[in-house]
Amino acid sequence: MTVEAGESPTTPLRLRLADALAKSGDLRTTPWRTAIEAVPREVFIPGFFERIDGARETMWRPITPELVGVTERLELTYTDETWVTQLNHGITAFDTDMPVTGAPTSSSTLPGLVVRMLEELQVEDSSRVLEIGTGTGYSTGLLSARLGPQLVTSVEVDPAVAARARKALAEAGYSPDLITGDGLLGNPAGALYDRVIATCSVRHIPAAWVAQTRPGGLILTTMLGWLHASSGLVRLEVTGEGTAEGAFLGTTDSFMPARPHAAPPLGDDFHAWIDNLPTTERPTAAGSEILDPWEGWTSLFIAQLAVPDAQLVTYGLDDGPVFDHLVDLDQRSVAILEQESEEPPTVRQGGPANLWDSVESAISQWRAAGSPSLDQFRITVTPEEQTIWFGDPQGPLSWNLSQ
Ligand SMILES: C[S@@+](CC[C@H](N)C(=O)[O-])C[C@H]1O[C@@H](n2cnc3c(N)ncnc32)[C@H](O)[C@@H]1O
Repeated sequence: MTVEAGESPTTPLRLRLADALAKSGDLRTTPWRTAIEAVPREVFIPGFFERIDGARETMWRPITPELVGVTERLELTYTDETWVTQLNHGITAFDTDMPVTGAPTSSSTLPGLVVRMLEELQVEDSSRVLEIGTGTGYSTGLLSARLGPQLVTSVEVDPAVAARARKALAEAGYSPDLITGDGLLGNPAGALYDRVIATCSVRHIPAAWVAQTRPGGLILTTMLGWLHASSGLVRLEVTGEGTAEGAFLGTTDSFMPARPHAAPPLGDDFHAWIDNLPTTERPTAAGSEILDPWEGWTSLFIAQLAVPDAQLVTYGLDDGPVFDHLVDLDQRSVAILEQESEEPPTVRQGGPANLWDSVESAISQWRAAGSPSLDQFRITVTPEEQTIWFGDPQGPLSWNLSQ
């Protein structure tokens, strides 16, 4: 690798990344290519975690220049990978020199997805953009490089993450408007925006995003519910006061949930009530394959629309088998999918909600309509309700979102 005078040592790596993203089809236009070539990803992820899948649990290996050396860290930085940068709302790669367990709470999204979203955002040179989920600030850097930082506002809920992004953006030479707070509230002071883009997922479209986007402006996000079903990318056009209409783009992308939209904790009394809840068992034709996104991306999404307040919990008693449970905490209802290898699947339901009955009924209506894929559905937003529908917004394949 030869580096010209005045060139950053990572310029060749950025050009290599841009070539790879163009080849994969994620990077499609010259202005975004220029941005990818300009923004030094290493500044935004000085340290991160590499995932190590084990038989029993996932471990996270810290990657910092000190632990793996400068060359390996830069090589990894410029691969088209998502790198987790925070575990359990606080742990960074600089806090440990050994692999650790934990739940990812912030990351630098893979550049292929970042740039594909930026392409799908359909910005113009003068677009004012509101980004939700600054994270490392890398995507904010790309937006700033493409549009000029004065047109970019980004909101991050986690103060420590926001502070690191601010430092990285300054180091990279960008000064967009950075806000620490709940991005679901948008940024009323900066409205109206031409574009809103979210790199965390929502259960429903926040009213603030619609209110803060000019009519004709676009909102690009992913939607994720408590059964972990993701919509892939959704792009809505704001049509009037509090109203928007949109389409699912047919991708299988997924982001971590926006913090206030994540499933509520099960609570200390979970085991007490669920283990003692009377249940009735019956056979079911729709078994737990419905709950596997890779078996049926759309069917899982339909199941989630049918029981929007249920969450998926994988759970077993003591040393017994582990089964998928749909749990509605508010209604104290459960559906347990019991599928032993050779046996026909059965479901045990308890509580007032009969969750699996609702899932089965929605799935059979969807199958009766020819099992349309999610990219044939649309979403309509009004101040009163948000509906995801196929064919007819009032028809049998239409569901209102929980808000
Ligand atoms: C996948 S990361 C963002 C990736 C980032 N855009 C990048 O390129 O590195 C998602 C981020 O969304 C943030 N987040 C979660 N809920 C949020 C909310 N309600 N408002 C703003 N940010 C939120 C998380 O703290 C996390 O940093």
